[in-house]
Amino acid sequence: MNEIFEAIKRAAIEINEAIMYDDTGYSEEHNATGDAQLKLDIKSDIFVENEFKKVTSIKEIVSEEKEHKTSVHAEGKYLVGYDPLDGSSLLDVDQSVGSIFGIYENDYSGKNLLASAYVVYGPRLELVIATDKVRMYRLNRKNEFYFYKDIKLNQKGKLNAPGSTQMCWPAHHKKMIDDIFKDGYRLRYSGGMVLDLHHILLKGGGLFSYPSTSDLPKGKLRLIFEVLPYAFIFEKAGGQAIDGKKRLLDIEPSHAHDTSPCFFGSNDEIKRVLKTYA
Ligand code: F6P
Repeated sequence: MNEIFEAIKRAAIEINEAIMYDDTGYSEEHNATGDAQLKLDIKSDIFVENEFKKVTSIKEIVSEEKEHKTSVHAEGKYLVGYDPLDGSSLLDVDQSVGSIFGIYENDYSGKNLLASAYVVYGPRLELVIATDKVRMYRLNRKNEFYFYKDIKLNQKGKLNAPGSTQMCWPAHHKKMIDDIFKDGYRLRYSGGMVLDLHHILLKGGGLFSYPSTSDLPKGKLRLIFEVLPYAFIFEKAGGQAIDGKKRLLDIEPSHAHDTSPCFFGSNDEIKRVLKTYA
């Protein structure tokens, strides 16, 4: 699987350079979910696809930016689901954005997810890879990623990242979020999933939630490219990831762009969610 991680590293360096210097404006295109695509969304998708095409162990890829799956190498073993540029609407305000990757075998279900990775395009270029454990890398001046540290969550954190808008939350969700703040948690929400989850992972814990809402009953975040890869990372870091009631990694998406409500956190916060949603 190492050759896939190497391809991710090359694509990350290319995407980072495009973020630094290219036009952050919109194209005339829309993705499969109907979001207007930035020129950088399209460019990042091409960088990733071109790097993955060089990897013979990849059988198929599916991108958040495309409606359909793409066959890569018939004799390949792995399926890769990816979001090349998550949170890209934050680019025009110069906030951190990211790329997310899930490496699957046989199908794109949580139980067949073998590894995950994400890249943070922030003041630094950082890469996190989860296999048996969660390892973080940083880019050095020679444009090489070096191992920085392992990521491990504490039993309980201090951060709260509540997604969507309060007017669309169910009452029990609003009460839970209010209670968490009453217990002293700090609000940390940028509107970019990669940065918000990276923040929680590196500060040792907390809760990120994107519930079922009145406008999006099945949640907003996409299973194959966003939710399942992070569910894998949180579990390997010693935390949990649920849809409110059950483990996210037990979900089997039926369509490439299926979404799910999701809660990622350290154990104490997830216990709270389970109690609220029981
Ligand atoms: O992929 C969609 C996304 O931009 C995520 O990165 C982010 O967590 C979420 O949407 C923010 O949504 P909202 O603005 O509804 O909280």
